[in-house]
Amino acid sequence: MAVATPIPYELYSDAPGVLFNKPEWEAANAAHPTDFDFGSVPKGWPTELKGPQVWTGSYLNQNPDLFIRKITLAEIAEVDAAIQSWKQLDLPLSDLHRERFHLPNFGRVLEELAQNIYNGVGVQVLRGFPVQSYSKEDQIIAFIGINSWTGNERLNQGADRGLCHIKSISHIDPHNRGKIYVSAQDTNAQMYHSDAGGDVVSLMAVSLSGTGGASTVASSWQVYNHLAKHRPDILRILAERKFRWQANGIPHEGVNLIHHNGGKLFLNFSTRTFTGYGEIPDRDFRYPALTFEEREAFGGWQWVADQYSLETELQPGDIEWVNNLYLQHARRGFTEDVSQPRHLLRVWLRNSELSPTNLPLDIRRKFDAMFGQHPKFYPLDEIEEDAKRRATGVFTGSCKTEDAKERLAKSR
Ligand SMILES: [Fe+2]
Repeated sequence: MAVATPIPYELYSDAPGVLFNKPEWEAANAAHPTDFDFGSVPKGWPTELKGPQVWTGSYLNQNPDLFIRKITLAEIAEVDAAIQSWKQLDLPLSDLHRERFHLPNFGRVLEELAQNIYNGVGVQVLRGFPVQSYSKEDQIIAFIGINSWTGNERLNQGADRGLCHIKSISHIDPHNRGKIYVSAQDTNAQMYHSDAGGDVVSLMAVSLSGTGGASTVASSWQVYNHLAKHRPDILRILAERKFRWQANGIPHEGVNLIHHNGGKLFLNFSTRTFTGYGEIPDRDFRYPALTFEEREAFGGWQWVADQYSLETELQPGDIEWVNNLYLQHARRGFTEDVSQPRHLLRVWLRNSELSPTNLPLDIRRKFDAMFGQHPKFYPLDEIEEDAKRRATGVFTGSCKTEDAKERLAKSR
């Protein structure tokens, strides 16, 4: 069953009437007189960030070696052997670590890719893994095993999940599934966001829909540099310690959304936390509505990010890594024939050797609140995963258990 063709991305908003689509942002920006004084960047912050983390999509497209690495036949053979050895151990996936997934030569390559993810451009694609020739179980083992070499810790994505399936359940009768809380479960576009947690988000494309669903990534350092020049007021707003929402590790007084520490920009936020999403649109009703200036700031951040974004043009078998501390990502909406769904696997990773030691306190506190327990649940598919969400009301690692209980009570 196909759904309606998605609207053009420029007209899309995660929360129409609150978060600006592109024409709304352009109109708000143009409403300022040409000689308007937007002031300067937050006090003590740089007017320009420098380093490999600053890039535009067009630059990376011209230099694909900076982010695309093709897997070789010999490396695939190493993965095959590692899958077989792992299966002989007969252990749960939570025990799958690099010591139990031996990749004699390929492991070193993956460690180099981790350097690029943490200290280089921050986005990396490994292309050419023949994912569709593996069983569902082996696809997951391969994905987890390869990732054990890029990040030694897999973080809890909520409801004890060490693995998440990005696959729509919106075609299922609502009586036979849980409520849709996150866009992992539907076919809508997404605005630019950080995932709730983890230094790194890794995805593997198991299969892709026929139409749309493109993944995009943007350098937030590039967005910063653009706004520092043209709209520094937006940076000042996002750097104010006043943004509040209900989530693990978010203090009552709020947090700033962008942070400058040790010459680096860090961020970990999603504007959806201020608006709710999907079939639960009221997540933050306890807090005041966003002001026009905050909405304009979010609009500027979103559409400048899109202007400089990279479309990673994922293919089945691709494994993609996105640094979740200085890049943000989004996706285009898509239509799908449910017999050929868009299906990605996702883990949240930390590499304890490469993880920044100077993470801003707000982000560290949030991660500490989310990642105390190592996850044990590795659902085989989105149905098994949905059953767990339905039982717990927890949709992501940042979801507070007490709110989940409230939500569950309301949805019954
Ligand atoms: Fe995401």
